[in-house]
Amino acid sequence: MSQLSLQEIIDEVNEVKRYFYASLENIDGIESLKELEIAVLSKKGSVAFLNRQLGSLDQDLRQSAGAVINQARSEMKGDFDEAFRKLVAKTRDTQLEHEKLDLSEIITDSGFRAGRKHLITRTREELEDIFIGMGFTVEEGPEVETDWHNFEALNIPPYHPARAGQDSFYLKFGDPESMLLRTHTSPVQIRVMTSQQPPIYAVMPGRVYRRDTADARHTPVFHQIEGLVVDKDISFANLAGTIETFTKAIFGPSIVSRLRPAFFPFTEPSAEFEVTCTICEGVGCRTCSNTGWIELGGCGMIDPKVFASVGLDSEVWSGFAFGFGIDRLAQMRYAISDMRILLDNDVRFLRQF
Ligand code: PHE
Repeated sequence: MSQLSLQEIIDEVNEVKRYFYASLENIDGIESLKELEIAVLSKKGSVAFLNRQLGSLDQDLRQSAGAVINQARSEMKGDFDEAFRKLVAKTRDTQLEHEKLDLSEIITDSGFRAGRKHLITRTREELEDIFIGMGFTVEEGPEVETDWHNFEALNIPPYHPARAGQDSFYLKFGDPESMLLRTHTSPVQIRVMTSQQPPIYAVMPGRVYRRDTADARHTPVFHQIEGLVVDKDISFANLAGTIETFTKAIFGPSIVSRLRPAFFPFTEPSAEFEVTCTICEGVGCRTCSNTGWIELGGCGMIDPKVFASVGLDSEVWSGFAFGFGIDRLAQMRYAISDMRILLDNDVRFLRQF
């Protein structure tokens, strides 16, 4: 290769700069900026190519030409970095602008948009209405419970393995491990039975807490509705009939439900209540862990030990109880694949209900 003169090198550097700055003007996104970086500034770029040509030059010429190339490179690199920063900021601004929620209360020409009750509240109220229609009353209990109401009176003594399934948030007052955030609405059964005389036909909705890691089907705070019937000559058929009636009322005729034998310390016999997964329509998906079914809750005939703990004679009285997840039910009814969105307060989601 013939020797290049300094002027020729300067001309080549200027050519590269001209190309670089012309392209920089017309950049329309991170992608094209990256391409420009590769074409000019990378190891395979034109600056590196110029540098490689230095090898064939005399010592003196090489030094001055090298200085020219370096100077041009750092100029271009500085402007490139600056352009990159601006582009990233601009992309973020556009994204923020795009996702912006107008939380102001200005009433515009487009009309006034009223707020509404949260999906969970609406579902709870609907359930209450259905049960009121079936002759039940609505009762409430505290969210901070005694260990006795939440576990012991329900035939779950200390160290009973059933406690492991309901990992609890204990509170720092009273004797250690004596007060907790209720892990289910079943303690309200105990409160109702110790404060009212049968016959009892009651539902008890409310918030419950478990030390669960949030996932598509679990949140550490959720809602249940408990049902309790205490009367003479109550049978399992009455329980099954009640559940069937409420399922049809809330889901409509197209959803199938099933009872499966299960165990709860406070009911005997016990059953688990499941409905077809509405997300995959029974085929199997992430939400139902590929089973095609979603468990809504449990039920069963009141265990004589529970009657004993509230001072009712199980020779005279019989009854059943059930407990369902309200969030789960809403999730299945509206095919919400991930339950965590119920806690996000994103009005774009909440507005749909
Ligand atoms: N309390 C039980 C739970 O949270 C559900 C249940 C209620 C089971 C009433 C039987 C009777 O898992």
